[in-house]
Amino acid sequence: MLNRRLFKPAKVFIFIGSISILLTSCNFENTIVNSGTSGSSLPPIPPNPALTAKLVQHCGECHVGSNKSGGIKDLDNLQWVAENYIVPANSSISMLYLNMNPGDMPKNTTAADYADGTDLAIFKAEIKEWIDTLDINTIDAKSFAEIYTDIFEPRCATCHSVDNPPAGIQLNSYTGILRVIEPGPLAETSLLYDAINQGRMPKAPNPLLDPDEIEEVLKWIQAGGAYDGITPATFTEVNTIIQAKCISCHGASTSRSLASHADVMAYVSSTVGPTGVAESTLYRAVQRQSGVQPMPRNNPALPNSEIFTIESWILDGAQDN
Ligand code: HEC
Ligand code: HEC
Ligand code: HEC
Repeated sequence: MLNRRLFKPAKVFIFIGSISILLTSCNFENTIVNSGTSGSSLPPIPPNPALTAKLVQHCGECHVGSNKSGGIKDLDNLQWVAENYIVPANSSISMLYLNMNPGDMPKNTTAADYADGTDLAIFKAEIKEWIDTLDINTIDAKSFAEIYTDIFEPRCATCHSVDNPPAGIQLNSYTGILRVIEPGPLAETSLLYDAINQGRMPKAPNPLLDPDEIEEVLKWIQAGGAYDGITPATFTEVNTIIQAKCISCHGASTSRSLASHADVMAYVSSTVGPTGVAESTLYRAVQRQSGVQPMPRNNPALPNSEIFTIESWILDGAQDN
């Protein structure tokens, strides 16, 4: 019950032997469990009859009334759906949205059912829109893009980055930041917030954050900790990095080719959202996490801006664009 609302912990963590990865996977679970809370933490959700009708149409045969697949029978009750399966304003960690994929929900669907312009493709986009614009607390928060640029990157990512990050925490990516925050009503229990509010972080030589900056971070977490304000990176941008820094060892004729979009996809998880980023060998290798070969091999680590670009492209669906 508690952990349905957000994405599931990645199965891949089970077989990764590294202690630091296990540590970070625990942090994922904190996010999942704590922000799920009891189903009653949200104020009344504005009615949306059109969306409710579509939930009944597409999901009702298994999840409404006496149909209770997986124990779920209230998908016609938007309040219940919101309290159990989404984080307002953050579709990228909301189970309801993440579950809508070919072969997943609705059950027995195929990729064709999700092709552009089909009913389910439109419905999935509508679910995303509903979650991302759900204004339950009217918090006037800055976007992630602004806070990352103003605070996380200059004040935290100087230390919390590639190669043995302090406490295993990488704050140079959204995926890393998400592990130490509790989006939504329990924002104040976030480890990241506690560290800045109690003045433990940032460590010298970086100056402590002033009260306005601490408040901005808190509001962003309270408003859902969304990945907003970011223009998604394209494969063209990622490929520019690959051509400059990787292709010398990863050419088309090697067994580890990164020469085309299809070849790169061998190192990108098919799971959507931050869980997919965390599972992707491409991301883990450039973040130089333990358990993978640190890349680029025998060369300096990529700057945070390039890691951020690779993450952004994966979060946007790792498209061939
Ligand atoms: C044909 C039956 C069927 C339809 C239609 C269906 N589901 Fe499910 N759903 C299931 C079953 C069975 C489960 C139990 C978990 C599993 O087998 O994956 C489930 C589980 C879930 C879960 C919980 C997943 C988890 O891991 O906790 C969610 C959320 C969900 N469904 C949402 C939806 C949504 C949204 C729709 C409509 C877009 C939908 N389902 C349509 C059969 C269905
Ligand atoms: C100068 C290096 C440095 C900077 C800059 C820095 N940290 Fe840290 N951080 C550390 C070290 C080292 C640790 C390991 C624990 C310790 O020594 O207290 C740590 C631990 C942490 C922890 C876990 C332990 C705790 O106290 O909660 C969090 C959360 C954290 N940092 C967040 C941040 C945030 C947020 C920022 C930016 C606002 C930041 N750090 C900036 C070095 C740094
Ligand atoms: C100097 C040569 C060299 C450069 C430059 C290089 N790589 Fe590699 N890379 C390798 C080798 C060799 C392997 C195979 C490692 C092994 O299996 O031990 C590898 C493996 C990988 C893997 C798989 C890692 C794993 O543990 O499964 C990824 C992903 C990867 N590289 C990405 C990159 C990216 C992205 C860049 C550029 C930012 C890059 N590499 C630059 C030589 C290089």
